Amino acid sequence: MLHYGPRPFLHEMREELERAPCKRITLRPLSPTIGAEIGGVDLGDLDGETFAEIERAHLDYKVIFFRDQDITTEQHLAFARRFGELEEHPFLPSKEGYTKIIRFAKDEDVKGVENVWHSDVSWREQPSLGSVLRAHEVPSVGGDTLFSDMVAAYQGLDDELKAKLEGLRAVHDFTRTFGLLLDPEALAEKQKEFPAIEHPVVRTHPVTGKKAIYVNAVFTSHIVGMEREEGDRLLLLLYSQAAVPEYQCRFRWQKNSIAFWDNRSLQHYAASDYWPQQRVMERVTIIGARPA
Ligand code: SIN
Repeated sequence: MLHYGPRPFLHEMREELERAPCKRITLRPLSPTIGAEIGGVDLGDLDGETFAEIERAHLDYKVIFFRDQDITTEQHLAFARRFGELEEHPFLPSKEGYTKIIRFAKDEDVKGVENVWHSDVSWREQPSLGSVLRAHEVPSVGGDTLFSDMVAAYQGLDDELKAKLEGLRAVHDFTRTFGLLLDPEALAEKQKEFPAIEHPVVRTHPVTGKKAIYVNAVFTSHIVGMEREEGDRLLLLLYSQAAVPEYQCRFRWQKNSIAFWDNRSLQHYAASDYWPQQRVMERVTIIGARPA
């Protein structure tokens, strides 16, 4: 499906965002529909009105960024906790003394492998609402994170395809990635704890009511009740939407930058172009509702 020329629905989405001015924070969009850098904020010390504007910006822009947030680990956790309960990741390494913080510490020996489009922990019965990622060490250049707007991606599908997706469900399964690192016994144990799970192929955001594509190349295995070849073709078409530049923004990290993204409405991709340099990030992941 060759597409070139404007995608007019992006203009409509942009106009909607412009109807929501901010009073307490500054907001600089990185693209028309996804990603905004927020200023005038200390995440370690937020009053109620500022918090409300941050919450709105997060829903509107799907990922928001903050610079120079030299906050403590406790403040990182406390900020995330304002949005919901925090998860412990059963496979990724955590920060020493903090089971609810994932530590991505990459260097010459530990290579960055998060360079595939995904939505965090979509293999859980209740996948993530959002993730708050903080940069501790960044390479001199490279190591950007890219985000892709799954609401825009859904909007961009033609009506026939939208109708076809109606009511479809797909299976998400951790064994496709984290499972590869486990021996058969440990794998069987973890499968009991985290069985493969079905979610709608298109989910409706519980707050904004907007529809978004909710399958991803890492964790989705197949479409329920569809012949494998046809299902795989459909999944590939849906995955490929994340690669459309008009749906993306890209963030250049600095030490103490923070990104807070909405796993219900986007996918992300950590560029793995900086090896053998060091890149150390810490992520707190907020538990969301079961997708509907
Ligand atoms: C991730 O949550 O997939 C990691 C993102 C990153 O390291 O930029």
